[in-house]
Amino acid sequence: MPQVEECVKMSNFVSVEDLPLKIVEQLLKRASYFKNGGQPPKFKQPVYAANLFFENSTRTHCSFEMAERKLGLTVIPFDPATSSVKKGESLYDTLLALNSIGVQLAVIRHPQNNYYLPLLDLAPTQQLNLGIVNAGDGSGQHPSQSLLDMLTIKEQFGHFAGLKIAIIGDLTNSRVARSNMQLLQRLGAEIYFSGPQYWYDAAEFGQYGQYLPLDQLIEQMDVVMLLRVQHERHQSEDQFDVTAYHQQYGLTKERYRKMKDDAIIMHPGPINRGVELDSDLVEAPKSRFAEQMRNGVFVRMAMLEAVINGRKLGGI
Ligand code: CP
Repeated sequence: MPQVEECVKMSNFVSVEDLPLKIVEQLLKRASYFKNGGQPPKFKQPVYAANLFFENSTRTHCSFEMAERKLGLTVIPFDPATSSVKKGESLYDTLLALNSIGVQLAVIRHPQNNYYLPLLDLAPTQQLNLGIVNAGDGSGQHPSQSLLDMLTIKEQFGHFAGLKIAIIGDLTNSRVARSNMQLLQRLGAEIYFSGPQYWYDAAEFGQYGQYLPLDQLIEQMDVVMLLRVQHERHQSEDQFDVTAYHQQYGLTKERYRKMKDDAIIMHPGPINRGVELDSDLVEAPKSRFAEQMRNGVFVRMAMLEAVINGRKLGGI
């Protein structure tokens, strides 16, 4: 159990872009503590949370719910499809309703980039008073994915500085790529990008790392981070050829054999098997896919606890 003064306190948790590295380190340490069987605090009063997922999710949604239950929170079910969102209620009014009936923490996934900004910049007359935890906004941020990725890398290498990390694939649409490149650069990793060049915007990604064709970087990388091809966000799929994509930009068995002995493969999921990587490699020795998902629960416990601390919930 960390000393009281080491407890992370945050009012909301929406982005890793400016998250101080000291806080990142404390959150990863706390997540490891939970992973190693450390017990969560015993809250003196109930803490009520709701998960609002306006985009489909398996990992993030279930993992946040698992984290909430492990922390002893009371989870109020919310399904946008059967909620008054369908009658046109806005996100703010939905949160006002949940907050008014006692929800203190809202975990939100939303298709709109920065949906959370107006919720953090309230007018004095607005009565919303609940912690926002961003579970992914459009192509913007995915802070819990980023922290679980950092935990997975830290477990493998023990450090970030100097690691060569390739982020490969559908960069344009990827909140995972954005969150990870922002955090990894500040942590001292050497970032590379690969995949189709029409998904690599040099003006944005060039500030974080160099673009190289996959075959020029695969042998040197410590981490090969593959991104899901986000078909649902593409305007047109006319040019998309699964076999051609896999051969040119995917992790084939041949490329896998060229990776360094201690290099690892990561993928945020869900995986398009046979596209981003050969289906047989999903559970190959170098793959950390399942470990990433396992780590997600413990990282999310640490994130939720930080907001509970920051808002002095649970009678602590
Ligand atoms: N990695 C991730 O966000 O997966 P889900 O969309 O299943 O939550």
